[in-house]
Amino acid sequence: MSKFWSRTAREAKPYTPGEQPNELQVIKLNTNENPYPPSPNTLEAMKRVVNEDLRKYPTPTVDSLKSVIANREGVNDEQVFVGNGSDEVLAFAFQAFFESNEAIKFPGVTYSFYPVYANLYGIPFQEVPLNEDFTINVDGMKQSIGGVIFPNPNAPTGLALRLNQVEKVLQGNPNSVVVVDEAYVEFGAESAVQLVEQYPNLLVTKTLSKSHALAGIRVGYAIGQEELIEGLERIKNSFNSYTINRVSLAGAEAALRDDAYYQETLERVINTRVWFKQSLEELGFEVLDSKANFLFVKPVRVEAEWLYLTLKERGFYIRYFDKSKVRGYVRISVGTDEEMERLLNEISNLLKNYVQ
Ligand SMILES: Cc1ncc(COP(=O)(O)O)c(C=O)c1O
Repeated sequence: MSKFWSRTAREAKPYTPGEQPNELQVIKLNTNENPYPPSPNTLEAMKRVVNEDLRKYPTPTVDSLKSVIANREGVNDEQVFVGNGSDEVLAFAFQAFFESNEAIKFPGVTYSFYPVYANLYGIPFQEVPLNEDFTINVDGMKQSIGGVIFPNPNAPTGLALRLNQVEKVLQGNPNSVVVVDEAYVEFGAESAVQLVEQYPNLLVTKTLSKSHALAGIRVGYAIGQEELIEGLERIKNSFNSYTINRVSLAGAEAALRDDAYYQETLERVINTRVWFKQSLEELGFEVLDSKANFLFVKPVRVEAEWLYLTLKERGFYIRYFDKSKVRGYVRISVGTDEEMERLLNEISNLLKNYVQ
């Protein structure tokens, strides 16, 4: 605490990101990164723009990237907004569509950045408890006063809503914006982008961080009807004209044009998730039916926190959330087959040698 801090800085409750350890030997399964590298074309495209043009600002309107995204998503260029990671897009959405006197709704267990933004912008919120089976309570998400936000698939559970359930939330909130955060949708869930034409209150956000192995260049985007996109542009242009740097622009465009490569890595991640889930279940662990690139896992015989700390000592980083409702669980990102085999071995050995 400093006497120089504004009230906003004093009262902020910042998000705690997963650790980014420096040691090379660590097997890092704590921040849902893609275990495979970006495609060679993507890397080449970025290298090509590391030249003297870097003295110039990037384009403030990112028209060319917007066109590539629009083409891929089957929408118009005017229905696309691009941000510095989808976290930034979400932050702008909170400012553009939510009010300080109207409570928004999000699930009781969800991405922990939502309450951080709500707190930062002074937006009241109601956390709608999940159903017993950890699915999102669709009826509970209806009739919000200020708007709704939820990830699909949800984090950290990995469970996805079907499109007809997403539609119920949209129909239940005709006068406020529903943000569907699809950070993990490419790993097996249905995208709500196809509902954008029909629902003026729908904003879908996506990211290249996970599906396109580009967490390091920070590019995310939103799809919605033109009026919503214009709202986001108004906030962005009141904050920073140049949110996407030249290298990120080149990388994002090249990646989105290199679909075959990324489809293959997505399939590899999904296949690994399937056998790893089954192997954990064979050990007696309870594993939710994830449609994302991570698994939400309840260990047996050992405490979740103990498992997290012990694995960390042994060089395996996974995520543990010290919060009621999820204290019994750990979240494990899906790595390569080799990484997951090593983790499985380590967990089996720990269970064998564990004496209470
Ligand atoms: C549910 C969810 N939404 C959004 C993000 C943000 O992704 P990025 O800012 O890298 O696009 C994350 C990152 O982990 C996430 O888990």
